[in-house]
Amino acid sequence: MMVLRPKVVSQFKLHPDAMKILEEVAKVVVVPGFSHEDLMAEMSDADALIGAARVDEAFLNRTPRLKIVASFGVGYQDRVDVEACTRRGIFVTYTPNVLSGTVAELTIGLIICLARAIPLADAYVRRRWWRPRAKPLSLGVDIEGKTLGILGLGRIGYEVAKRAKAFGMGILYYDIVRNQKAEEEGLASYVPFDELLRASDFLTIHVPLIPETRKMIGERELRLMKKTAYLINMARGGVIDEEALCKALAEGWIAGAGLDVFAKEPLPKDSPLIKMKNVVLTPHIGSATVEARRRMALMNATDVVRVLRGEEPINIVPEQRGRLPLKAS
Ligand code: 8YV
Repeated sequence: MMVLRPKVVSQFKLHPDAMKILEEVAKVVVVPGFSHEDLMAEMSDADALIGAARVDEAFLNRTPRLKIVASFGVGYQDRVDVEACTRRGIFVTYTPNVLSGTVAELTIGLIICLARAIPLADAYVRRRWWRPRAKPLSLGVDIEGKTLGILGLGRIGYEVAKRAKAFGMGILYYDIVRNQKAEEEGLASYVPFDELLRASDFLTIHVPLIPETRKMIGERELRLMKKTAYLINMARGGVIDEEALCKALAEGWIAGAGLDVFAKEPLPKDSPLIKMKNVVLTPHIGSATVEARRRMALMNATDVVRVLRGEEPINIVPEQRGRLPLKAS
């Protein structure tokens, strides 16, 4: 009798080390790109998903065999309806710790890009520098001695703080939970939210997108910031009221922004952000290094294989811990 191998659908091309682990027990189908229908066409007989898709009731109604949603990343709250998965006995896992330093590196990268207007300087060399009457570029600003405000001092925020300290920045943070470790180490000082907005020269966001954080940075908050301040968002676009941000950038309430995430992704080509010179834009690449993506893929693959073998996954999301019996295969 022919035994059907379980089917794993991945929205990402996974590192060969992870593919090897998965292919020992399953057939792996990779569906890259943003087409929901291409993904769903493969999901109807899938046992596992590795990805970043929105998984809600409608999705789950079309995936009767699904046993695990392995979220390719750390921010699952805005993508996966964990309660709906729990009701159906479907595990939800994620990839904490393995990408924090990687995201922190790009955060520092965006801070320096903004302080020194690196994208404008690059364009200047390519288009204008050789011209006899080329107007010189405006001066940048030092980051040494400046105040970095961190909104959300969790795993990623902490790694940002460590790196920013090495650059000689003073570090303030606001979070709903105090980070005792960071405070004891003298790495960052807690301040109330409005104080963080008022005091920061650079404000960087590292909170998950949950109902409490949606549009947490809106017109009121942007108006509290210094006119010389820069805003960096590596978390989720929905944390900022993007319309208010565009107004703030156009009218000079703040000096600029470094954005890796957007309310709608891919960023629509008619977004006003695209034409603004005081913003640096990257296409949601916070975790996109060879090393981090390998670690994420291995973490997801290990959890998927465990579930396909009838074991509990390791990196189960906090909401499901201790709550989920195994789904019969
Ligand atoms: C993405 C991320 O998951 O970890 C997160 O929360 O946003 C990223 O790592 C990854 O880029 C796939 O979209």
